[in-house]
Amino acid sequence: MTYAPFDLTGKVALITGGNRGIGLGMARALAASNASIAIWGRKQAANDAAITELSALGVGDVKAWSVDVSDELAVTQATAETISSMGRIDSCFANAGVGFGARSFAEMDTETWRKNMSVNLDGAFWTMRETVKHITARANDGDPGGSIIGVASLAAIEGAARNQAYAATKGGLISMLKGIAVETARYGIRANAILPGWIATDMTAAGQESDVFNSKVIPRVPVRRWGQPDDFGGIAVYLASDASTYHTGGTFVVDGGYSIF
Ligand SMILES: NC(=O)c1ccc[n+]([C@@H]2O[C@H](COP(=O)([O-])OP(=O)(O)OC[C@H]3O[C@@H](n4cnc5c(N)ncnc54)[C@H](OP(=O)(O)O)[C@@H]3O)[C@@H](O)[C@H]2O)c1
Repeated sequence: MTYAPFDLTGKVALITGGNRGIGLGMARALAASNASIAIWGRKQAANDAAITELSALGVGDVKAWSVDVSDELAVTQATAETISSMGRIDSCFANAGVGFGARSFAEMDTETWRKNMSVNLDGAFWTMRETVKHITARANDGDPGGSIIGVASLAAIEGAARNQAYAATKGGLISMLKGIAVETARYGIRANAILPGWIATDMTAAGQESDVFNSKVIPRVPVRRWGQPDDFGGIAVYLASDASTYHTGGTFVVDGGYSIF
């Protein structure tokens, strides 16, 4: 018999950037655990493909919205539409992200800084704030509880040469989540960060194709392989489930041991 809290029937999970990569890996496990899934991503074709794949996995509804999380109005409108269409949001995975680096820190221009900030930090801020508004209002009506998850990065805790803007967004995200955790615990909300290591997605395509990267970096991963999107399924189900109601303010490193080697 399945451990009861891991059956997510009746719960609704919102996953930004859930149409591919790590977001889709988490969505697959959530859908297979019978959660209803709301995907936000900009590309309609990828959203449609995710709906088709995820709908076959469990009993929950799967819907998607074309949303650019770097647009505050788009986020507030999509939150309202998601709640009205799905009934509620129980867990919010602020996962949509971009990674723009530079040849060196000295050569990093303001546009690069802004591009990272607008999606990874502004977008996560608006996404999480709107869901927190919804869950706290619901708690005040007698139905408390919810989970806020930010997908950060090892870049937040290790020196990320040539990627300081990206790293700053992920460090900021972890700090924001800790503040959310303390402030909203009284509403039954927990807030946690996931820190992926080297994961094979579109974001790391250049590294996957690089012989230097594959011969110098991946051998330093104790598990000795690239992480895969599906490696994030278990942590997603745990954080969306009532098994994690006492777990807040945490930073979950999922990196095959890279950061401790
Ligand atoms: N891959 C890694 O090694 C790694 C390591 C550490 C942390 N991370 C973090 O993990 C998260 C997921 O990354 P990934 O590797 O899965 O990347 P990915 O394969 O490039 O996917 C990025 C996702 O974010 C969505 N997205 C990007 N910009 C968006 C925007 N403005 N509005 C809405 N959605 C947007 C994309 O959908 P659309 O293109 O359709 O909008 C896509 O679904 C990111 O926050 C990333 O920083 C990744």
